Formats: sequence, C-alpha cells, structure tokens
Amino acid sequence: LAPPLLDAQGRRMTYLRLSITDRCNFRCTYCSPASWGGKKDLLNAEELGRIAGIFAALGIRRVRLTGGEPLIRPDILEIARRIASIPGVRHLAITTNASHLEALAAPLREAGVDQLNLSLDTLSPETFRRISKQGDFDAILRGIDAAAASHYASLKLNVVVMRGVNDGEARALVEYAHARGITPRFIELMPFGQGVPVPTAELMDRLRGEGLDLSAEPEETGAAADSVTSGPARYWKAPGGRVGFISPLTQNFCGGCNRVRVASNGDLRSCLGGRAQAPLHQLIRGGATDVELARAIRAALGDKPEGHRFTEPGNGATLLSMMGIGG
Ligand code: GTP
Ligand code: 5AD
Ligand code: SF4
Repeated sequence: LAPPLLDAQGRRMTYLRLSITDRCNFRCTYCSPASWGGKKDLLNAEELGRIAGIFAALGIRRVRLTGGEPLIRPDILEIARRIASIPGVRHLAITTNASHLEALAAPLREAGVDQLNLSLDTLSPETFRRISKQGDFDAILRGIDAAAASHYASLKLNVVVMRGVNDGEARALVEYAHARGITPRFIELMPFGQGVPVPTAELMDRLRGEGLDLSAEPEETGAAADSVTSGPARYWKAPGGRVGFISPLTQNFCGGCNRVRVASNGDLRSCLGGRAQAPLHQLIRGGATDVELARAIRAALGDKPEGHRFTEPGNGATLLSMMGIGG
C-alpha cells in the first residue's frame, strides 16, 4: 500500500482522527447540531480496526478516537485494543468529556491508549449547566482525577473560551490542571454553534495581567517538532507546567497540517472545514478490498484543501456539526 500518504500540497499525513459516534451524553452550546442529522451508520469495531490498519500501512502513526463522546460506545475497549495492536500505530489517543472515565480510565490505559485530551470549560457547576445542557459535572471531576491516577503518557485539558461565559476562569483552570499533572489548552471558539470567541492574544494578556508568568516565546512547533505528535496547539512555559493555545481563528495552522479524518458515518474528510469525500463505510459494505480502500483514501487526499475557511462570513453554519466530525 506504500508509498506514504501525501496530499495535494505535499503535506505528509501521519495522524488519523477517527470519530466513532455522533452521539453525546452532553449537549454543549458550541457543538450540538440543531437536530440529529441522518441515520445511524456507525462502523463496528472490526471495520474501525480494518480502516485504521489501512491508514497505518499508508504511514499513519497516531490515531485519535473522537465523537460525539467516544466513551459512550459499549465496545470502546475492544476498539481501543484492536487499534492499539496495529503495527505502525505508535500512539492511540482519545478526546473525551471525561464523564465515563471514573470507570474507564484504567481499563483504557491497559487496552493501549496512551494519551487523553479531556474537555472541561469551567470549574463552576452553574456555568457548566449554561454550556452543557445535560451532563453530570461531579462525574467529570471524578473522571479527570481517575485519568490523572492512571499513568497516561500525556493528559491535556481542552478549554473552549467563550466571552462572558468562562473567560474569567482561565487562571483557575491553569492551576486546576497543573495541580493534576495535566496541560491546560485554551481553544478559540470555532463557528459551529453559539458563543463569542476570545482571541488568543487577548487571553494571554489577561492571564499575564492576572499574574501568570508565561514565557515570552512559545516552544518550537511545526517541522522542528515531532511531526507525529505535533498538532494545532502552541505551548508556552509557566511555573507549574506548560500552557497551550489553539488559535484556529487568529493564527491559521493549516500549513503544517498532518491530519486526516473519518467522520462517524464512515466518510473520509481530508479537512475539518472541507466536504465529505471517500465514503469508506459504503465501500466496505460494497465488498471493497484493502487495496481499493487505500486507492480511495489516496484519491481523496489528493483533493485536500489548503486550509479551512471558518473566518469567511456565513461559512460556519454550512459546516457539518462538530459532533459527527469529532473536531
Ligand atoms: P493533540 O494532538 O493532543 O495536540 O490534540 P488535538 O488538538 O489534535 O485534538 P483535540 O481533539 O484535543 O482537539 C482540540 C481542539 O483542536 C478542538 O477544538 C478541535 O476541534 C481542534 N482541532 C483539532 N484538529 C484541528 C484541525 O485540523 N483544524 C482545526 N481548525 N481545528 C482542529
Ligand atoms: N470550537 C472549538 N472547539 C470546539 N470543540 C467542540 N466544539 C468546538 C468549537 N465550536 C472542542 C471540544 C473538545 C474538542 C473535541 O473540540 O471542547 O475538546
Ligand atoms: Fe459532547 Fe464534546 Fe460536543 Fe460537548 S463538545 S456536546 S461534550 S461532543
């Protein structure tokens, strides 16, 4: 199946984001679709393992499971075990709202997951209720503590920053994360749902004004960093650990993109902001061989756009919701 997977711009794809469900037990205002679209058309554990294996043969070295909320799948441990055991997959990561981690943090680690990104936007139960219309706040906090105790190689806390909602809590969230050995990351809100974003530069000024000693320069990213583990976040040093910022609106990172996505319905999407391409689930059900699937993946990547266009007027609303693509 070699040679490696290159897109039209010559960017090498090493990182696969696999959305395994469009369902979620929360409903965050910035993420939820207006209505549940389409029929349920999920890939089963065997199909997910097969697809990840083909991507690994094409040069993918890191796989992240996303959602919706990936941990609501009853077969999550089987999925993790299958993907973690694929030769070539060096890291298996999950992005989760942490609500199921009290029970699952340790078994997922044993299944071969080595990195978790945990979503937490607030330390206040009232603000949580404003952001997520359902969900058990105490279960999240217990889940995060369970993750912190389960010997993961990397734990990050994803905070989507919304003006007037949680932008006053950034400093407290840094302390909360660092106290648990977790790297906090502040994300500029992308236009998929409700809310007003706060530019990274403004948030950094605010954190410094509140006494957080952030280093003057970020750590090296891009080509200088490890091409397998690098992502959109840039990290600054602070006394208690690193602090990350993800700035899709004010600092486009598409030029260094190393990622490809499979949505929960099995459609390959070469870009978060792009259209659906190769319908992998349909091809599998139609009896496609691994070589045919690899060919469809290559052809779709040849069509990967240079970057997203979120910042152009009217674009956000036309995008598929975060839930089916998994961010
Ligand atoms: P690491 O690989 O651990 O750095 O994580 P990640 O940032 O790749 O993944 P995560 O699922 O934790 O996503 C964090 C935020 O980054 C979410 O808001 C995602 O929607 C956003 N994000 C991830 N990848 C992309 C991307 O390729 N483009 C854009 N615009 N946003 C992305
Ligand atoms: N903008 C930025 N990040 C978002 N997420 C969900 N919706 C948005 C949005 N509109 C984040 C979640 C989670 C990750 C998968 O994507 O908080 O951490
Ligand atoms: Fe669920 Fe995450 Fe979307 Fe919130 S942001 S509704 S936790 S998938």
